[in-house]
Amino acid sequence: MAQRTFSIIKPDAVRKGFTGAILAEIEKAGFQILAIKRLSISKEQAKGFYAVHSARPFFDPLTTFMSSGPIVLMVLEKDNAIADLRKLMGATNPANADEGTIRKKFAGSIQENAIHGSDAEDTAAFEIGYWFAGYELV
Ligand code: CMP
Repeated sequence: MAQRTFSIIKPDAVRKGFTGAILAEIEKAGFQILAIKRLSISKEQAKGFYAVHSARPFFDPLTTFMSSGPIVLMVLEKDNAIADLRKLMGATNPANADEGTIRKKFAGSIQENAIHGSDAEDTAAFEIGYWFAGYELV
C-alpha cells in the first residue's frame, strides 16, 4: 500500500550542487515527489525538528549545521516508502554505507550526510506535519 515518508536534502549536498542528482536517484527508485520546497531554516526550527535528539552530544552541532544553508524538504510516496528510502540512503555514517547508496555517493561525514529520511510511521507523520500544511499535500 502506498506510504508517505519525509526527506531532507541537507545543506552540504545543496551547497555542493547535488540536489538534482539526488532527486533523480529518488525518482529512479520509484518515489513520487508529492510536495517539495527549498528553505533556509533557523536554528530554533532545526531544534524543534530534531527534538528527539536533544540529549545527544551532537544536537548542537547538528542543529547549527542544518541551519547553515538552504535545504530541500520533501514528502515522498511509494509502497514501503519509509524502509525503501532508508535503504536507498544507506547507513547514517557514509563510511559504512553500501555502494550505490545516496550517502555513499554524496555524503562527507556522519553529520554532513547529504540526506535525511524518516525512520518509522510515527516519525514520518510528525516530520511531514512539522514542515508541510495539509493543503500542500493534495
Ligand atoms: P538524520 O537521519 O538526519 O538524523 C539525525 C542526524 O544526526 C543524522 O542524520 C546525522 O546527521 C546526525 N548524527 C547521528 N549520529 C551522529 C553522530 N554520532 N555524530 C554526529 N552526528 C550524528
